[in-house]
Amino acid sequence: MTGPILRRRDNGATELRVNGVFVMDDRETSSERRLARAVIDLGARDILVGGLGLGFTVRELLAASDVRRVLVAELHPEIVGWMRDGTIPGADLLADPRVEVVLDDVRRVVADQAPGSHDAIVLDVDNGPDFLVHDANAEVYGPSFVAVCAERLRPGGHLCVWSMARSSTLRAGLEATFDLVDEARVPVRLQGRDEHYWILTGSRPRRVGAGD
Ligand SMILES: C[S@@+](CC[C@H](N)C(=O)[O-])C[C@H]1O[C@@H](n2cnc3c(N)ncnc32)[C@H](O)[C@@H]1O
Repeated sequence: MTGPILRRRDNGATELRVNGVFVMDDRETSSERRLARAVIDLGARDILVGGLGLGFTVRELLAASDVRRVLVAELHPEIVGWMRDGTIPGADLLADPRVEVVLDDVRRVVADQAPGSHDAIVLDVDNGPDFLVHDANAEVYGPSFVAVCAERLRPGGHLCVWSMARSSTLRAGLEATFDLVDEARVPVRLQGRDEHYWILTGSRPRRVGAGD
């Protein structure tokens, strides 16, 4: 496994590669921000994010004043270091009192959470289940980890997963665990072409109280 690297393009864009794999740039970030909006619009206030990247999802979450807490799991300390020292923008995100960054694998960070402790878990650690940056990340999309995520969510909570391509396997995995599964097609503009990415969401039912 090799660490992350930043590449500055001639046009001024910054590109992030992890383990030799292109994961994103700072030019087309609408789907990363849409990932945050998806859970904000569903009412999430306490959110666990897998993958800091260039910080666009976290920034969008923090722009919502009613978001109370954002716990970020990031595997690579270099990325947090670059944000802290200004190599990439985001020192303000790390300084926000609502943010805590844990430098560890998202699988361990989620497993360490108390049952029913988050309104949403947002996963963007690869280019999707079929385009991994680390082979071990295959587990992130498997039924056992999806079930662990579901258990760490409050009733009515949501697991949201970013994917470059539609994944029937991930959808089936979410459907095996969650009562409600939604698949949103997100239009993006890539090198002058209209393309789209995907956000899959599994939602736990709200607890129905006595007398409801
Ligand atoms: C595509 S980027 C995240 C983009 C982010 N949504 C944004 O808005 O900038 C993926 C990030 O996940 C991190 N990552 C990869 N595998 C991970 C894992 N198993 N646990 C935690 N972070 C991981 C990478 O180092 C990288 O920072």
